[in-house]
Amino acid sequence: MKMHRDEKVWLTLSFGMIMAFMLITGYQTFALEMGPPSNMETIDPQKVDETAPFDKPGITQIGENEYEVVMTLEIFSFNPSNIEVPAGSTVHFIMTSKDVVHGFQVAGTNLNAMVMPGHIQRISQTFDKPGDYLVLCNEYCGAGHQMMATTITVK
Ligand code: CUA
Repeated sequence: MKMHRDEKVWLTLSFGMIMAFMLITGYQTFALEMGPPSNMETIDPQKVDETAPFDKPGITQIGENEYEVVMTLEIFSFNPSNIEVPAGSTVHFIMTSKDVVHGFQVAGTNLNAMVMPGHIQRISQTFDKPGDYLVLCNEYCGAGHQMMATTITVK
């Protein structure tokens, strides 16, 4: 009986350790963003409006020259649209689609990302040169696809 109890203790301990490692890995993946690349981050496309951070799309200053843009894409618009940042800003885009696959291409930069429903796309860009940057959807998404555009103004 004594041995049996020891075995139980060890089993409990090793199970506890496995759980702890899983929790640590999970925490690193989701909270510290140390996990696999952005396309592994998922979201329920039916609940984008209720899911943080997409419940509050918009632009937030997060550092001296650093901005975070939480953006939702849907037929046939970008929300927020017409964002403005000072020259020299690094902008971190966090995007998802509320319906079909859209594209996020910024003319004059290397920014070019596919934004899929159910996935969170993260992409960053530093805007050194002032100007109006045309943002286009470059994935065919329906009748209004050609109209799906906005601008990023760098001042
Ligand atoms: Cu959205 Cu094309």
